[in-house]
Amino acid sequence: MPVIALKTPSAAYDITIASGLLRRLAPRLGKLMKDKAFRPFIVTSPDIWGLWHKQVLASFKQAPTVLFLPSGETRKRLASVESLAQQLATAGADRDSLLIAFGGGVIGDVTGFLAAIYMRGIPYVQIPTTLLAQVDSSIGGKTGVNLVAGKNLVGSFNHPLAVLADTDILATLPPAQLRAGLQESVKAGIIRDPKLFRYMEQNADAILSGDAKALAHVVTASVRVKAYVVANDERESGLRMILNYGHTLGHAIEAATGYKQLLHGEAVGWGSIAATHLGLSRGLITQAQSDHIIALILRYGPLSPFKAAAAKLVALTASDKKNRSGTLSFILPTGIGTVKIVRDVTQPELLAATESMLALMREHTITND
Ligand SMILES: NC(=O)c1ccc[n+]([C@@H]2O[C@H](COP(=O)([O-])OP(=O)(O)OC[C@H]3O[C@@H](n4cnc5c(N)ncnc54)[C@H](O)[C@@H]3O)[C@@H](O)[C@H]2O)c1
Repeated sequence: MPVIALKTPSAAYDITIASGLLRRLAPRLGKLMKDKAFRPFIVTSPDIWGLWHKQVLASFKQAPTVLFLPSGETRKRLASVESLAQQLATAGADRDSLLIAFGGGVIGDVTGFLAAIYMRGIPYVQIPTTLLAQVDSSIGGKTGVNLVAGKNLVGSFNHPLAVLADTDILATLPPAQLRAGLQESVKAGIIRDPKLFRYMEQNADAILSGDAKALAHVVTASVRVKAYVVANDERESGLRMILNYGHTLGHAIEAATGYKQLLHGEAVGWGSIAATHLGLSRGLITQAQSDHIIALILRYGPLSPFKAAAAKLVALTASDKKNRSGTLSFILPTGIGTVKIVRDVTQPELLAATESMLALMREHTITND
């Protein structure tokens, strides 16, 4: 069973990836809480709970309290945190309680933030149920909620006691969610792991059809990339920025389409294509390498098409909170499995790369019709 140890200046915890973790949850949580008495509170969505509650409850002698947050990015807001905190207080949760985030990135981000501020901090565990949450959002301690002004604008760094990724849970994930999450694994391959990149090329059919062994391999390799990066740059002052490959333009695409039309991973896929075009135009990669990278991104599609002018996307990119002091920072490929941070990308350069991405999207959409 792969157990990946993550150690940062502020925390040390394990990320366990295995089949059947849910059914043995209670003893595992007991060990994490050092066998002292504690009350578990599960935060989840009704749809996920409906599918998996039997497995979750199987190992508990006394059923944990369950707090529900309906699914959807629109629930990732301060009002949800307040409502959940109120429910915790009413149910008598205290510092000897343990919060359990049982869901995708939305549940994980909200619960992690709730754990950071309820009674000035109580422990929590991440049990991620989407592929994106297993390979990305549950790891690294970034928690928070959205404001009308933008995504993830309120939050805190707050690491969980552990991440328990049960790969069985991925079986009920809608295929579009699986594919979108796999874009984060493609990203992990592009930025740091050529072996993962090759594995995803060679085993695409098995991975996309949900083959448990192939998915477990991809999750484990992707987690290793994220854990390595977070361990070496917890607060995103340098290396951790490489995880934003494809995300700067991806966020602009999400904003331009009202956060409704595309899944996050799809927007990242389009953003990664534009970043690859930028890398090519700067001469950091060859045409063959660029074709290779883009082919893998598209293999894990289809990425939903969208309508937005390149100029609008570039303007939105300029307002991204990661672009400090007016310059455009981008993570660009320098090969397959290596990237670098480029801080002087100009708007005309980005416009050209965005136009190329949009042209490819039109071509790709016509081919898929
Ligand atoms: N904290 C971080 O470092 C970080 C990193 C990346 C993304 N994020 C955040 O993650 C969020 C996106 O997360 P997501 O993609 O997991 O989406 P999500 O949490 O909205 O879940 C997607 C959908 O899948 C359903 N679902 C979840 N697990 C399921 C299962 N096993 N079977 C069937 N249905 C299931 C959910 O109910 C929901 O409808 C965004 O808010 C993003 O900002 C955070």
